[in-house]
Amino acid sequence: MKTGKPLVLIVDDNPTNIDLLVNTLEDDFQLGIAINGPKALDYVEKYLPDLILLDIMMPGMDGYEVCTRLKSVTRTKDVPVIFITAMSEVGDKTQGFELGAVDYITKPFHTMEVKARVQTHLSLKKMREELSDQNVILEQRVEEKTAELQEMLKAIVRAMAMMVEVRDPYTAGHQHRVAQLACAIAKKMGLSNDQINAIRFAGILHDIGKIRIPTSILTRSGKLLDAEFDMIRIHPEVGYDLLKNIPSPWPFAQIVLQHHELLDGSGYPKHLTSDQIMQESKILTVADVTEAQSSYRPYRPALGIDFALEDIQKNRGKLYDPDAVDACLELFQQDNFKFE
Ligand SMILES: [Fe+2]
Ligand SMILES: [Fe+2]
Repeated sequence: MKTGKPLVLIVDDNPTNIDLLVNTLEDDFQLGIAINGPKALDYVEKYLPDLILLDIMMPGMDGYEVCTRLKSVTRTKDVPVIFITAMSEVGDKTQGFELGAVDYITKPFHTMEVKARVQTHLSLKKMREELSDQNVILEQRVEEKTAELQEMLKAIVRAMAMMVEVRDPYTAGHQHRVAQLACAIAKKMGLSNDQINAIRFAGILHDIGKIRIPTSILTRSGKLLDAEFDMIRIHPEVGYDLLKNIPSPWPFAQIVLQHHELLDGSGYPKHLTSDQIMQESKILTVADVTEAQSSYRPYRPALGIDFALEDIQKNRGKLYDPDAVDACLELFQQDNFKFE
């Protein structure tokens, strides 16, 4: 139906009015004609015209009803409707505009006026459509750029994680595995996507503060001295300082700062207690101790996953968040969770 010219639907029950409008518009537009409300709705459904000239007073379904129905359907709601009617009272006009009509022409009308108004509203419709297309293109570009930036952020985060792991080859991959487990726990506990993303980044970088600790301590075999442990205990704060100024929608610096805090206040650096520790950090702690205990460390052999799970169970509610512990146990014991 649609060729080059815009398609205008004339809806009127009066043949004389229809003839007059056809004579006025036929040179510039393709025309459709409907002689009552139901036929108009059928026509719009079938051909989706560019504009509708709609008589108000028609037997059966009047123009207001036709307009209301068109505006209630997504596909037809943006087709401009111009009411044409003999009624000229303000009340009628108000009702027409309230229903979503774009204009109002009063009979008897001047043919040039009808033509000019139709053309104006078709131009406006075209501009609206172009603007909407432009918006879609812009939204796509924003999405592409956001995806690019996220990839870049991931690469930078990986590089930062590697910086500490290069100095401490015994814990290479530790942060990545902790992030993997912490995200799985968070998911099981029903945390939001935002919280899970925060935990992922915090997990991958949680030990970045160890960059300040001499390699000799990180890689030394045998039991560590108290002074050496004191040295290691600064890493959450160093990590926080390194990360705190990175603009991010997620509080991952704060999560890193609290990843060695324990429910009973015996953790570090601030000896926070249960209700002062972020839920994300509590989850990260459970993932961290589980991974760390199950893996080899220079100062002790790998204790194994069974030992690690026994430990978190034993300290469930005392040192470690009970929900995070339960989720972690379920992951290993029922869901067959494996570190990558
Ligand atoms: Fe740590
Ligand atoms: Fe760790």
